[in-house]
Amino acid sequence: MAELEGLEFGKSDFVLLDEVTMEQFMENLKLRFEKGRIYTYIGEVVVSVNPYRQMDIYGKDTIDAYRGRELYENPPHLYAVSDAAYKAMKRRAKDTCIVISGESGAGKTEASKYIMQYIAAITNPSQRAEVESVKNVLLKSNCVLEAFGNAKTNRNDNSSRFGKYMDINFNFNGDPTGGHINNYLLEKSRVVQQQDGERNFHSFYQLLRGGSDEMLESFHLQNDAAAYIYTREGAAATTSNNDRSSHKAVMNALGVIGFSEEEISSIYQILASILLLGNIQFESDGENVQVLGQEAVKHISELTSTDPDSVTKSLLFRTVATGGGEVIEKGHSEQDACFGRDAFAKALYERLFGWIVSRINSIIEVKDYNPVLHGKNTVIGVLDIYGFEIFDNNSFEQFCINYCNEKLQQLFIELILQQEQGEYQREGITWQHIDYFNNQIIVDLVEQPHKGIISILDEACLSVGKVTDTVCLDSMDTKLSQHPHYTSRKLSPTDKTMDFQKHFRIRHYAGDVTYSVEGFLDKNKDLLFQDFKRLMYNSSNPVLKEMWPDGQLSITEVTKRPLTAATLFKNSIVALVDKLACKEPYYVRCIKPNEMKSPVLLDDARCQHQVAYLGLLENVMVRRAGFAYRQPYARFLQRYKMTCEYTWPNHLMGSDREAVEAIVTQHGFQDDVAYGHTKLFVRTPRSLFSLEQERAALIPILVLFLQKVWRGALARSRCRRMRAVYTIMGVYKRFKVKAHFWEVERRFAGVRTTADYGKSVDWPTPPAALSQFHNITVMLHRRWWARQIVKNIPPSDMLEVRAKVSALTALSGERKDWGVGRAWERDYLANVRDSPQTSSGFIRVSKELKNKDEFSQILFSGSCRKVNRFNRSTDRSLVVTDKYIYKLEPKKQYKVLKKVPLDSFTGVSVTSGVDQMVALHTSSQDDVLLCLQRGELSPNQDRVGELVGSLVDHFTRVRKVPFPVKVCRSALQLHMRGKPKSVTVETRAGQTVADFKKSRDGFILLVPAN
Ligand SMILES: Nc1ncnc2c1ncn2[C@@H]1O[C@H](COP(=O)(O)OP(=O)(O)OP(=O)(O)O)[C@@H](O)[C@H]1O
Ligand SMILES: [Mg+2]
Repeated sequence: MAELEGLEFGKSDFVLLDEVTMEQFMENLKLRFEKGRIYTYIGEVVVSVNPYRQMDIYGKDTIDAYRGRELYENPPHLYAVSDAAYKAMKRRAKDTCIVISGESGAGKTEASKYIMQYIAAITNPSQRAEVESVKNVLLKSNCVLEAFGNAKTNRNDNSSRFGKYMDINFNFNGDPTGGHINNYLLEKSRVVQQQDGERNFHSFYQLLRGGSDEMLESFHLQNDAAAYIYTREGAAATTSNNDRSSHKAVMNALGVIGFSEEEISSIYQILASILLLGNIQFESDGENVQVLGQEAVKHISELTSTDPDSVTKSLLFRTVATGGGEVIEKGHSEQDACFGRDAFAKALYERLFGWIVSRINSIIEVKDYNPVLHGKNTVIGVLDIYGFEIFDNNSFEQFCINYCNEKLQQLFIELILQQEQGEYQREGITWQHIDYFNNQIIVDLVEQPHKGIISILDEACLSVGKVTDTVCLDSMDTKLSQHPHYTSRKLSPTDKTMDFQKHFRIRHYAGDVTYSVEGFLDKNKDLLFQDFKRLMYNSSNPVLKEMWPDGQLSITEVTKRPLTAATLFKNSIVALVDKLACKEPYYVRCIKPNEMKSPVLLDDARCQHQVAYLGLLENVMVRRAGFAYRQPYARFLQRYKMTCEYTWPNHLMGSDREAVEAIVTQHGFQDDVAYGHTKLFVRTPRSLFSLEQERAALIPILVLFLQKVWRGALARSRCRRMRAVYTIMGVYKRFKVKAHFWEVERRFAGVRTTADYGKSVDWPTPPAALSQFHNITVMLHRRWWARQIVKNIPPSDMLEVRAKVSALTALSGERKDWGVGRAWERDYLANVRDSPQTSSGFIRVSKELKNKDEFSQILFSGSCRKVNRFNRSTDRSLVVTDKYIYKLEPKKQYKVLKKVPLDSFTGVSVTSGVDQMVALHTSSQDDVLLCLQRGELSPNQDRVGELVGSLVDHFTRVRKVPFPVKVCRSALQLHMRGKPKSVTVETRAGQTVADFKKSRDGFILLVPAN
């Protein structure tokens, strides 16, 4: 119930009336109409009064205000029901339909357009191109269908002369994906004849007034509607819309929808053909009938791409098959020819219209739809069908139209009044039955088999022999004389508003309508000579050919009687009602305020009449007494259980009903509900709304909760997976480690017995985890290997080995040649092979020294060139023992010239070259500079390495003090008597032995050139 408008605008829902009487209803309707409030609710039904003026209530702001809102949140509007239908479709995946009813000119078509506009505006927020194009076609189709299916009548300048039911398909997203238009019974008789003051279909006037000169010329038309018999009546009529601009709009719409150039020109060629056909007259000389004006025939044949002779023949003859299968041509009488011409014109137009609809359908039909992929495809149907109408002269078409309205009223009664009350009864809700007029009886009058009017008409059509309209009327009078809703002059002889043998009257739910039976049978038979069908089928224009598929049947094949127009119409309406009945319906009930199309006049009597026959008062009563919402207990519980502590997450009560009671009581609206056997009934939407609001507030919390639980579950499973991964990784790593051990074991198993102790064995590549371990094992193996090697060295060689190892480390690769490749003999002065002449002399001296100074071994002895304190170089013998270093005079039986304790030496410097220069550094900065000389044993080999190795080994191993060794790449630095000296090495040609020479800052060691 909308409560947002002030009371000065009247009550926005008729349910709020103080008393449900016609007076109050009318008063409210009038007040609202005067205040410009054209919409009012009865619950969810919208009552709309045609304002006959442009209202500023359909703009974007209004659309935004209604988007996604509940019905009672805004003032009544078409948009609100549209949104409700859309929401129901989207939220509950329900197919819905909006049924717009009301009499001619009440505003149904306008309403349907606003509804479609609204749906188009609120869908496809992401602007997807394919959805936009579907929407565009759906919207533009209105313009085309109105041009070809609407006409000015005395009731409505833009009266729909066909019924339209449009399904809009939506995907799971709620975006339109396509649609389908069903059209119902086009009033084709209008093509050839109109009542006074009425017009033919808009399309003809649009073509004649809006078509370009070239277009009209190519169609052999002139831009004067009065020049054509079919449009003459309506030529002078003024309408509110401009034919010229409408023509442009239609051409544009046809293009947008996707009609090709050829198709568009075919459409207009057919229209032109119809106009030209209407002007064809016949002339009879008593025997033969002729076409007057062959020119027109030629033009028609040109426009329909047929042969002119065939056109003439079809107009003048009909081919019939005799009983014996023979085919003969039978000439028409002048009257038959006119009948045939008009029937042809009507059929041409009808098929054109049908083809346009099917062409639009083929464009907007949902393509590539797969329910598994795309989810449920839901539908909103919009029904805008011709309204109930009463003319001065009511014919077969009005009969059909009014029957259709009876059927729709019946559906409304069933859904809104009958079903509703039936449900209260079934559910055991206390209920005061509300009486309403059930029009089923009128529906039966028309459609009942055997007894109904349609049945009687069909019977008359099927009878052989000359059955006229009046014979048929007689038959109806006989069969229906007792029917309370049927009468005729014969049955009520005193009623002079009807003529004998012409009129019958049906008391429709919306009023009495007197029908003129003239033409009923012809229109019901809907006869069109087969010759015209064949003529069109043989057209070389593919569009025309497509419209007339039945023209391909040969004359002998077409004997089966087609269904009559009334039966076809009845079947289509029954199918329509079935289609609507399975959808959730929303109703718009349109009221026409006056006959003058005046925006200010609300004709009381007319409106009362409409309110009465539309059953609106009953609607209000049922609604008022009834309940706005109902839901099975389980569904209600499912939706709102989170709003009550006793029901969330699951209740422990005996039944769902008790749980629902708990929710209702907690929210304090127990007075607003009734408990049925299976459903809860809620009287006012407000209660439900408050529940919805609470639910909406709780949903985010629940979502968070669910997310929390789900995230937890996800994390746990991820954690389990990670653990499993680590376990697998662990096992694998252990396997890799073991495999490595096994492999090492395998490769090194026999190395103890091999000659190289496994030195040549390749280590397997270790797994990453074992890289450090690998280094250690490799080292271990090397050590072991070294141990095995060293173990086999005789103790006598050990000193040499140690000295070499020390030299290797001390010289650290800086001195290329350090004599590693030769045997180190150490005591060269005592070596017979090195010093054959002098060795025995030296051995004696060294023994004496050993005894005297008590050193235990000679670390090195050899000859050398030494720089003395006067900076002169002399040959001397060098003896290095573990206690002293001796300088001996070789020429004087190795007399000791100098004896320096070993611990006063602090280090040694050598060069990186091949020279044999050595500087022994002392702590007193009185260093010894010498150049080793070689004896005979190895005259060209290095001895510096041996001296350095012996000293370093002795110092580090025996004395446990470091003995630094400096390998100089350039000048060697030392001190002599405290003064720094620099010694360089120079190669000099002609030099036979290495010798020192004084230089500016020290000495130069001159060495021989090779
Ligand atoms: N909401 C509206 N706002 C402005 N004018 C309206 C509105 N509804 C109807 N009209 C006016 O009333 C005229 C008739 O309305 P409409 O054609 O919708 O009637 P209808 O119910 O479809 O009639 P029919 O049964 O003859 O097709 C429109 O042409 C328009 O001028
Ligand atoms: Mg209409």
